[in-house]
This record gives sequence, structure tokens and C-alpha cells, in this order.
Amino acid sequence: MATTTDIKTSRLHLRRWSHTDADAMERILSDPYVSICIMSDSSTPAKCRAAAKRRIDWFNSYWDAGYGVRAIAIKDSALGTPGEVVGWCGVAGYGGSQGEAEILYGIRRDFWGKGVATEAGHAAIDDFFQSTKEASLCAIIFEQLNANSVGVAERLGLTKRRRVHFADFSPGHELRALALDYALWCIGCPQAHEDQKLMVCAAAKAGLIVGSGIGDTDHVRVALRRHAQDSDSLAKLEAAFSSTLEDPTCPYLSLSRT
Ligand SMILES: CC(C)(COP(=O)(O)OP(=O)(O)OC[C@H]1O[C@@H](n2cnc3c(N)ncnc32)[C@H](O)[C@@H]1OP(=O)(O)O)[C@@H](O)C(=O)NCCC(=O)NCCS
Repeated sequence: MATTTDIKTSRLHLRRWSHTDADAMERILSDPYVSICIMSDSSTPAKCRAAAKRRIDWFNSYWDAGYGVRAIAIKDSALGTPGEVVGWCGVAGYGGSQGEAEILYGIRRDFWGKGVATEAGHAAIDDFFQSTKEASLCAIIFEQLNANSVGVAERLGLTKRRRVHFADFSPGHELRALALDYALWCIGCPQAHEDQKLMVCAAAKAGLIVGSGIGDTDHVRVALRRHAQDSDSLAKLEAAFSSTLEDPTCPYLSLSRT
């Protein structure tokens, strides 16, 4: 049932990843606004390179089951430079304890808000149901960080079914520890000092991870105190951290074959 077919949409070319795309993946992952929303650590060039290679291998590891996560390359010159890879979209066999395949997407930030994830997502879902006999697919989203992603999933037809504990769907201890290191790095990174929204996202992500049993609360609170610009900002960061620490759950959305 292996699928190798490229998919063309009106503006995009979705195709399998190759290792020659590592630079493009690295560029996408080097942006904390992207990497804080996923399980990754791109805090140094070496870690970013390693994360890019790991992600490409992971995205290509499902093709024998008939699906995978494709590179999104530009097709329409009105959107960007044809051939340039600006994101990923597709289905991976990772849906937590339910074992449902999960739709994934990530777009380089200079292409956000142009309908790229939505256009690629529709094509990936059609292809998934045509290429497999699977009854459904899911999405599990860090909604406190990522209302955009919930919006995309709902536009793609997925609906919220329940909430799942972060520890039950997130990959192993090692990846969660790595993502916590990245969240702590993000709280103090230069972009976060210019944009408190990023800091708040990083604090919420840290709460989810610590709430799932990795790391300790004092360590995060010290980082929040060190980097907060003033008492108002500290209160916002602590509120974001505490809310996910106390309720480390995420919405589980799903779409059934029609
Ligand atoms: C979440 C994410 C993938 C969304 O990607 P995106 O390409 O910006 O999403 P879209 O453009 O399809 O949709 C976003 C907005 O653009 C709007 N849009 C859709 N088509 C458009 C078009 N042709 N032109 C302009 N805007 C458009 C959508 O209506 C939507 O607006 P809304 O949120 O106000 O409803 C992106 O923010 C991202 O990569 N985030 C980091 C990684 C991540 O979070 N991945 C998901 C983990 S669960």
C-alpha cells in the first residue's frame, strides 16, 4: 500500500521529504514561534540540525502503511518562489493511546495566514482516506499556545471529542525532557523579550510538560522570575504556567471517513 505520489493543489506541491531538504526544515524549526508549538529543541544550530534530520526521518517512516507527512513546496509564483519548501503537512501514525493516525502541519512563519496549512491539509486528508482503509484521523493540539492550529483543524472538518492528558499522548520521557529544555530556553530567548506572547506560550508549554511528570516546578518558576520584565509580566507568566500545570490536558479532535 506504499504511496509515493506527489500531490498538486492549486498553489502547492506536496511531496516526500528528502535529506536534501534538511536546510529548509532547519530554517522552519529555527523559529521559536514554530518550535514552541511542537515537540522539538532548536535552541542551538547543532540541536536545530539534529531536530531537522530526526523530523524528516520520522515524517518518512509511515509510507509503508500508505501515508506520511509531506514537504510543502510552493507551486504558484504568486505565493512565493516555486519549489521552495515552506512547511510540512500529512499524517503520521501517532495518536496517543487510541493509536489513531494524526494529521500534522507546520508552516514557516513568513507564510502564516495565507491559507497554506488549510490548503495542504485538505489535500493530505483526501489522500489519506483514498490511500488507506483507516476509519478516522485525529489531531491533538496545545491549544493554550496555538489557537491558529485549532482553527485550521476545525476548518479541515475535525471536531473536538474530549481532552487527553499530555502524559498519555506525548512521546517518551526523553522527548518531553528535551521539549522542556527548549521551553525554558524560549522563556529567555531574544524574541521572547520583545514579544511577551512567546514567553507566555513557553510558560504554558512548560506547565504542560511539568504537569506530565517531567522536570520540577521550582526550576521553571526561577526561570520565569529571572526573565519577567516586571510584576505584571511575571503574573501573566505564572498564570500561564499554573493553568497548564494544574490541567495538563489538550483537546483531542477527530475526523471520520465519510
Ligand atoms: C498552525 C499553523 C500551521 C497555521 O498555518 P497557516 O498556514 O498560517 O494556516 P492558514 O493560513 O491555513 O489559516 C490561518 C488563517 O489564515 C486565513 N486564510 C486562509 N486562507 C487564506 C488565504 N488564501 N489568504 C489569506 N489568509 C487566509 C485563515 O482563514 C485563517 O484565519 P483565521 O485563523 O482567522 O480563521 C502555523 O501557525 C504554524 O506552523 N504554527 C507552528 C507549528 C504548529 O503549531 N503546528 C501545529 C501543531 S498542532
